[in-house]
Amino acid sequence: MTTPSPLTPAGLRCVHLVDPLGVAPDRVRFSWLLAGSGSGGRQSGFQIQVFHNETWLVSRETLAWDSGRVASGESADIAYAGAALAPGGRYGWQVRVWDGDEAVSAWSARAWFEVELDQEGWHASWIGPGPLRESFTPPAHDGSFDPVANALRPAPYLRRSFSVDQPVASARLHITALGLYEARLNGQRVGDAYLTPGWTDYAKRVQYQTYDVTSLLVPGQNVLGAIIADGWYAGFVGFDAKRSGAHYGTSPELLAQLALTFADGTSQLVVSDEQWQARSAAILHADLLMGERHDLRLEPHGWDSPGFSASGWHAVRCRPLDSRPLVADPGPPVRVTQEVPPAAITQDADGRWIVDFGQNLTGWVRLRTDGPAGASVRVRHAEALDGDGRLYTENLRTARQADEHVTSGGPEVLEPRFTVHGFRYAEVCGYPGELSPGDVVARVAHSDIEIAGSFSSSSEWLDQLFRNIDWGQRGNFISVPTDCPQRDERLGWLGDAQIFARTACYNRDVAAFFGKWMDDVADAQLPSGAFTDIAPRLHLPWGGAPAWGDAGVIVPWTVWKMYGDTGILRRHFGAMTAWMDFIERGNHDYLRARDLGHSYNDWLAPGTDDTPHELLATAYWAFDAGLMAEIADVAGRPDDAAGYRALRAKIGTAFAEAFITSDGRITSGTQTAYVLGLHMGLFPDELRVAAAGHLVTAIEAADWHLTTGFVGVGYLLPVLSSAGRTDVAYRLLEQRTAPSWRYMIDNGATTVWERWDGWTAERGFQSAWMNSFNHYALGSVGEWLYRFVLGIDQEDGSAGFSRLLLRPHPGGPLRSARGSYQSVRGTISTSWEYTSDRFTYRVQLPPNTTATVLVPSGDGAEAVFHVGSGAHEFTGQLTEDEQNA
Ligand code: BGC
Repeated sequence: MTTPSPLTPAGLRCVHLVDPLGVAPDRVRFSWLLAGSGSGGRQSGFQIQVFHNETWLVSRETLAWDSGRVASGESADIAYAGAALAPGGRYGWQVRVWDGDEAVSAWSARAWFEVELDQEGWHASWIGPGPLRESFTPPAHDGSFDPVANALRPAPYLRRSFSVDQPVASARLHITALGLYEARLNGQRVGDAYLTPGWTDYAKRVQYQTYDVTSLLVPGQNVLGAIIADGWYAGFVGFDAKRSGAHYGTSPELLAQLALTFADGTSQLVVSDEQWQARSAAILHADLLMGERHDLRLEPHGWDSPGFSASGWHAVRCRPLDSRPLVADPGPPVRVTQEVPPAAITQDADGRWIVDFGQNLTGWVRLRTDGPAGASVRVRHAEALDGDGRLYTENLRTARQADEHVTSGGPEVLEPRFTVHGFRYAEVCGYPGELSPGDVVARVAHSDIEIAGSFSSSSEWLDQLFRNIDWGQRGNFISVPTDCPQRDERLGWLGDAQIFARTACYNRDVAAFFGKWMDDVADAQLPSGAFTDIAPRLHLPWGGAPAWGDAGVIVPWTVWKMYGDTGILRRHFGAMTAWMDFIERGNHDYLRARDLGHSYNDWLAPGTDDTPHELLATAYWAFDAGLMAEIADVAGRPDDAAGYRALRAKIGTAFAEAFITSDGRITSGTQTAYVLGLHMGLFPDELRVAAAGHLVTAIEAADWHLTTGFVGVGYLLPVLSSAGRTDVAYRLLEQRTAPSWRYMIDNGATTVWERWDGWTAERGFQSAWMNSFNHYALGSVGEWLYRFVLGIDQEDGSAGFSRLLLRPHPGGPLRSARGSYQSVRGTISTSWEYTSDRFTYRVQLPPNTTATVLVPSGDGAEAVFHVGSGAHEFTGQLTEDEQNA
């Protein structure tokens, strides 16, 4: 027996982040973790205090909110309820907790947040290179006219010097661009984020970032600078073979405001205005899809430091702030999170260096050179090699994914700044000398979202699948959840995100990321109420597609379920209601057969996908209605909840009449039709067992292969396990011939492919027109690994992991599995193993949780236990079937 240790709060977060520097005042929500085991690890109350810190000096602060003692076990999603928060204000906060015995903890360590500026807080103007700006047409690679290169333009450098005459107590840089920016202060890069300010519908909302730059300022002369590039705002975006000027704007602009607070309490602003100067320099073009071209001979060294003489720089073009909302970036930023060294460097048939990084990833290549000036080094990127060992780039469509650098001589680093490529292989031409492993590295870049989950097992290939799923998530979560990171697409497809959302939450802490993207989804919503196919939606007013538009309900519900975040439900309740009204308006008979937009159906299902469109659509509508009832309950709208329950019942009746027979069969009999019917609770109770049996028969008829596309795949194994057919789930998992996950891995996949047959031994590559090797939808099986294999799940009705359901599903050839999930209440770990017929399950629960644990008991049944926080071990038996499944 260990003696109970007092409960203490730690790991404080505001809006899911540690000490955020920009929070919308109406979104402030607090959470903390608990350590200790006092009185069974149950929190019985908390008290929060929030202090307004007027001058950055802790001694001069006022109490903005004292919650007093609140009798509650909640430790996440606690809304601020104090005095109005001052725009731009800095607040400290602390919490203490009571345990079940009424013992109170000490106050936590102090955490911080800063409130976003309101529109009046901005005194800067939008600036861009003036009318005098040079235009530059980079030469085509093969000498012929190149319309793409022709549309690319230099990334302008902008600068302004200013003087600091007093000791600085603190300094904040608020900065954004229409386009992308890299901020510089006194020769240093400001912050470590890339592709800032991120992608939003710039006509509706522009994010800005806030940096603490106190330590970068010097007494006397200072220089604030920025390089800006086209990015999503003015560059190539998506599959339109044209510039996105049509989408947002034609050339990038900067908005910057540096706020200095001096030790005596006075302050000074340095803003983007007509006093800035601009010129184009070493970056001849920079584009997300096309890549970059730098001529390092043109770099004006020292341009961003004091003492530089800016001759040849032009006045900037300047225009006042307009009314588009500027919002603090809800984070997390894109960062370089890893460097991957080459696994092999070879030369192809034409003598070009081919670097294999051993991993399909998203980012770019950094090269080191030491040679003469004027060498032209070209780096192209691809996910695969063709049969001759050359880069396979056909599947990139029009995306060029190429960076070029002209050297200025001597030791240099060659690296792009405003682009991102999806690749495993890089081809390097024109490199001066021998390319050796120390000269080249892949820098992995994506939204820097904390890891939340882990998984490992006795099966090496399954562990590889788990890693591939996470790599797919990393490579595609770049400001928005995209479909793929390599070809001319990279769009925020709602269907892909919806089906992967639960897996994404288990893998990484996507609460803030999805919170931001749901604002994009709401911004994109059409006047009809239809949620769109992609968000941000560019100029494509495509909406209403089943399983795509439904993301507008499913993703917020998932975020609430996983993080207990009720704010996202309240914020988007109106948008969700408009979506539900849109569907109902067109479908009075409760069969969703009209207004289906592009109806992608069970996208990329192998073979003939004959799941009827209206069946899939109606199933999703019923699912939405059920989730909306739950959402309305949480949002405190009982009348709406009752209305959605009634709607759910009507759709359920219509569905059963239209598609289900009295012996539990479903129209079309596809695996996806059964999976949706079962997952979405559309079979009458008495037919569920029969329906599950028909599903298994359909799987058997496909010679124990799955036939699901993007939509069916996510729920396939969960439905089988829930129906007591984990044996069949493992059989599909272990299947080695296509279509299967294992087929991809047997064929060298290091991410999840877009298509089950992206490459086959018989046929080689699938159609180059649509064949990404880094799409996460088919990786939605990750949810099953966590919820069913590890057994880390929640009881119905629980959100934010307060009431756990720990129910492992051993089977197949797996002898053991272990893993964890870092929930908002702390880390939940489980592991299991069996030797001969003995099954052992070990679990570790964080304080302030309870769990129902179900362990196989040997006769096909399960033993049920109820436990509280701490470590527990259970043993059970497996049936012979389970052992040999
Ligand atoms: C994308 C998908 C997307 C789909 C819509 C494709 O081009 O890559 O992932 O969901 O279009 O059907």
